[in-house]
Formats: sequence, structure tokens, C-alpha cells
Amino acid sequence: MNSIRTPKRRLITSALPYANGPIHVGHMAGAYLPADIYVRYLRSAGEEVVWVCGSDEHGAAITLRAKKDGITPKEIVDRYHNEMQGAFKGLDISFDHYSRTSSEKHHKVAQDFFLKLLENKSFEVKTEEQYFDQEADQFLADRYITGSCPKCQAEGAYGDQCEKCGSTLSPRELINPKSTLSGSKPVLKPTTLWYLPMGRHEGWLREYIEKGVLNGELHHDAKKWKSHVVGQCKSWIDGGLQSRAMTRDLKWGVPVPVEGAEGKVLYVWLDAPLGYITSTMEWAEKNGQDWRKWWQDPETELMHFIGKDNIVFHCIIFPILLKEHGDFNLPHQVPANEFMNLEGDKISTSRNWAVWVSEFLENNPESSDPMRYVLTSIMPEQKDSEFTWNDYRDRINNELADVLGNFVNRVLVLTRKYYEGAVPAILEGQKLTEVDTSLINELESASEKIGDLILRFRFREAQLEAMNIARKGNKYLTEEEPWKLQKTDPARVEVIMHLACQVVGNLGVLLEPFLPRTAEKISISFGVSGSKWNDASPSLVKPGTILGDLPILFSKVDEETVGAEIAKLGDNDTDKKLNIMPQKEQTTFDNFTSMDLRVATVTECIPVEKTKKLLQLTVDTGLDIRTVVSGIAEHFSPEEVIGRKVVLLVNLAPRNIRGVESQGMVLMATTDDGKLRFITPEEGVNAGDVIS
Ligand code: 2FM
Ligand code: ZN
Repeated sequence: MNSIRTPKRRLITSALPYANGPIHVGHMAGAYLPADIYVRYLRSAGEEVVWVCGSDEHGAAITLRAKKDGITPKEIVDRYHNEMQGAFKGLDISFDHYSRTSSEKHHKVAQDFFLKLLENKSFEVKTEEQYFDQEADQFLADRYITGSCPKCQAEGAYGDQCEKCGSTLSPRELINPKSTLSGSKPVLKPTTLWYLPMGRHEGWLREYIEKGVLNGELHHDAKKWKSHVVGQCKSWIDGGLQSRAMTRDLKWGVPVPVEGAEGKVLYVWLDAPLGYITSTMEWAEKNGQDWRKWWQDPETELMHFIGKDNIVFHCIIFPILLKEHGDFNLPHQVPANEFMNLEGDKISTSRNWAVWVSEFLENNPESSDPMRYVLTSIMPEQKDSEFTWNDYRDRINNELADVLGNFVNRVLVLTRKYYEGAVPAILEGQKLTEVDTSLINELESASEKIGDLILRFRFREAQLEAMNIARKGNKYLTEEEPWKLQKTDPARVEVIMHLACQVVGNLGVLLEPFLPRTAEKISISFGVSGSKWNDASPSLVKPGTILGDLPILFSKVDEETVGAEIAKLGDNDTDKKLNIMPQKEQTTFDNFTSMDLRVATVTECIPVEKTKKLLQLTVDTGLDIRTVVSGIAEHFSPEEVIGRKVVLLVNLAPRNIRGVESQGMVLMATTDDGKLRFITPEEGVNAGDVIS
């Protein structure tokens, strides 16, 4: 059998997060921060790599959230697509491209893929009875239906999975099923579904997962896959691979591109991983590259960073889909992480038991690197881990501030004091002690040692090794005590300070994957900006370099901050905070007074034909009777509007909206739950009264 080639290039993906809520630290530590460290390292090491991601905007996660908030799925995904990008940017997550699955481009990619599978006879089409919610007028699959688990009897199991025992389920297996949309008991109704017969694939999947063999050739080193990843896949295969429906009877999603399949969309777990392909295509187009090189050339290694709940989708279902299609590489590595808990409990969005990245960074704008540091220190690489605010404080104060910050600052201060900030040289013939040589050896081997750990997805250890360089530098300075020798043995002090400067300069390179902002500050100050991974060495910093200013790198975290953060947990008003719209740009008093706002009474109201959202109101403004079109039909029936007093902008230029001339605008309030509500004037305020 062939041996495994060293990849020529790598295509890295991180799980597309559902655009149904903000990003929390558990997400970051699972699929984004580890990939960021990995990719930053590869870039610095001069490897060819592209890293793609995007928002997963389909599936029950989105529609159920939209229903809860009383807004449309589109509004939900737009809101969180932006929110999530902000969180990633805030933590310096350096994707090459971030896409979204609701885009036209992605719909086309997913539909073409589906059609190719259809052509390859990869599906079995079945018409069968499925649960249907008569009140909601919808078929119920996945998270739309709940009941007791047939395996462990736990209540609240979903149509696709029991979260209690982890079993994969189908809706018909649930005991006492009920709809999560209306709470009603579902009835059975026939529908047609396209199934992926996974049982057909058991043989090759076993070889692929257990031996890393594909089509009789060695494809990847199975021994390098994490044991919990392989374990989960094996137990799925051992349990027997059931056929899985690849279509759903829903309105929100990628429409099934087949005649007669109206009202059906692709299963979200078919469409979402294809988002990696769409994202790569978009990136390639922007960068004048051929995307095929990244997905179809066998010399490209495909690697998925995910959380453990996504393992079967990336290691079993997606590989089946890719193989059935025939034109694509299969994953070479899936370094899934386990889960991160928080203060003794599971992270939960609904209970607001989470540290929200955007909110945290808004309150602590200088804490991107400190948060990255703590999350990497406790990354759930092999088993679940736990974030606590006390641990956060200790790591920042005792490690980042006391070791790294303190060391860098001491070197800078002493170099300025002794040499007016110019890095001293080691003079010819200057004798080195054993301690010096050992420090030099450390610097000699550090880049390889840390790089090797990163390549093995041991990010915690890799960061620890990088920090150990600072620890050793700190110890060196403390033990060599240059301040005691400056008067008596200045040549010795030059050696000490030269080596201390080398340690700091190397930190500027080797900390970059973990602490990009800190590394950049150090690099600028020590004149090593632009250095690459392999430049790290005991002679990185050029003697004579004048050290630049460096602000205090890390501030300490106080008790008050820790207490306040802990107190926030479980305080269930996240939605409110997230929904608060930022203040708009300043306006002028003149702009304000140019608006003629008046109270008006609605005398008639009818829906605008062929629209879902618009109502046509006839209003008495006190000045005249006029027509106004308002986008409130999804919130109010015409009967609920007639007779109301409303606030009206009367001097807005008339606009033709769907064939009706609208002569003004009714002002509405958007409340926390995303609903529109009228601003009702108090008793005694009448039509025509001016608002100013
Ligand atoms: O679990 C999740 O958050 C999913 N949205 C991950 C999708 S990964 C990929 F398939 F897109
Ligand atoms: Zn169960």
C-alpha cells in the first residue's frame, strides 16, 4: 500500500455556527480558536493554507428561534450573521473567508450537488407517513417534535436525537410525541422524502475510519485521529447505519431542485457542510484562484475543526455524500474538541449560562488576548473542561501579567537604563556560562517543539511551551541579577541582556498563534516584525536595535470584575441586551424640526393585495383623510388597527408601495421580543395634535 504524502496544501474548515444566537466561549474553544492557532502557525511557517467558515442559516435552530422572537427566519439570520462576525473579529479569529448558507450562490451549489447525487442514484425516494402538526400546518422532523426516548425513557427527546442518552432517533420512534410548534398531538400524513441509504456504505466507511484507507489506498493516518472521534464513529457504525432523509417538508432552506418537490427543502446537514465548498469558491473568486485545487486535488488535505456534537456529520454523513458525488476529497483529519462547561454547569443559551464573546469584549476591550489565553489553557482537547472566572483571574494575574508582562517590561526597562534602549551584542570571545548555553538551546529548539505540538492539535501544551520560554527568561534574569553586576562586570551584563532580548524577540514570533496582539506589540518594540516561524532563533534580534515603546501588556483582573461576571450568569435578559439597537449617528435640531409628526386616527384598514406584510390604512390626520401603507400585517389584523390613534409622520414624501400611494408613515415601537407595537397617545390627545 502507498504511504501518506505530506500535504502540499491544506483546506481548513471550522463548523458553520447556527445563526440563531450569539457566540459564547464554548463555541470559541471548540471549533474556532484551535483552528485559528493552527492556521496562524501554518501561515507563519510558510505553508499553503486556506481557512473557511460561514453562518449556518437553515434548519430548525433558525426557524424555532425566529418563531420564539416573533420575527422572520431571514431577520434572525441577518441579525446573528452580523453578531457572530463581530465576535470572531473581536477575538482575532482570522478566517480567510466567512460566508453564509442563505446566499443565492450557496443555494445553487447545494442544489447542483443534490442533482449530481440524484444522477448517481445515491438516494432512495420513499413516500411514507410522517408526523404532521395540523395547527401549524407543518410536517414535524428533528427539533420540531419531542417525546419520551424509546431507549432511555427520558422526556424531551427530539425527533432526531435524545440529548440524555445520545441515541439517534427518528420521529416515529418517540413515545407520546408532541409538536414543539403548537404543543399539539401530531397526526400521520403521507409525504415523499429522499433518503440516503447509509447502510450501503458501511464497508468502506469502516476501512476509512479505522484504517484510514479509501479505495484501497492509504488516505490518512488513522492513528493520528483523536481517539474519541474514532470511538464515536465506530459506535455509530457498530449500531448499524440507518437510512437518513436528506429532504424536509419545510419552507425555510434550500429548495429541493426537483419537479413536484415544491414545499420541500434540503436537510440542513446536507446543505450546511456544502457551505464549506461555497465559502471556498467565494474566497477563490476573490483571490483569483481555482477553487477546485482546494477540493479536488488529492494533494490538498481537508481538515474539519468541530465540536464533538458534529462528529458523525463530518466523519460519516459528509464523507458518504462527498464519495457519492465523486469529484471531491474526503476529510483527512477531524480534530473535534469536547465541550467546555462553565462554573460547574453546562453552557446554555436559553438559561443565559454563558460568557458571550461580543458582550465580554464590549466590557473589556483590551481583553481579546487574555481571553484567548485562558480558553487555550483549558481547551477541551481530550475531555470536557471547565471555565471559571476565578481561574480566569488567576491565569491573567499570575501568568500573563506576572510572568510574561513583567519579564518583557523588565527587559525593556533594563535595556533602556544600561544601553539607552539599544540591544547589546555578545562580544567576540565572551565566555558563556552553562545557564546561557541552556537558554540558547531552548531558543534553538523552541519553534520546532511548539510547531510539532500545534500540528498534533495539542494547543494547550503548545501554549504552555511558548509561555515556558517567558518563564525561563524571567528566571534567568532573576537569577543572573544583572543589576548587581552592572558596575563590576559590564561585559557579563551585556551577555545577559543580549540573551534576555533574544528571549523577548522570540516570544514576539512564537506567541503569535496564541496571543496575536501581544506578539505584534512585542515584535514591533523589539524590531522583529514580519519575522516568520522559522526565523525564531537565538540570533533573531539584531544587536543595536533600538527598542520601541511598549505599553503595559496586561492589566490585572480584580475581585470586583470576577464577582460581577459571576453575578451575570443565569440573569436571563440576554435577548434584551442583544436587541438593544445602538444609538444612531447624531442628527441636527433642524433635521428633527423638519419632521411633521401628528396624532392620527385610523378609520379604515384593509390588507394590500398579494402581500403578506402590508396593510393599507385610511387615517384622519386632522388636516385631511389620507392613505398610508404600513408593514404591520404580520403583527396585526385590520380589525385590530381600525379605530386606533397612531403617531404619523405626515410630511414624508409620498411613495408608491405595491401600487398604493402611501402618504406618510405610522411610527411603531419594536419591543424586546421583536414584535411591533403601536405608540398609543394618552387620553385627551386627538387626531391632528402636533407632536414636537
Ligand atoms: O452544530 C452546529 O452549530 C452546526 N451549525 C454546525 C454545522 S457544521 C457544517 F456542517 F456546516
Ligand atoms: Zn434517551
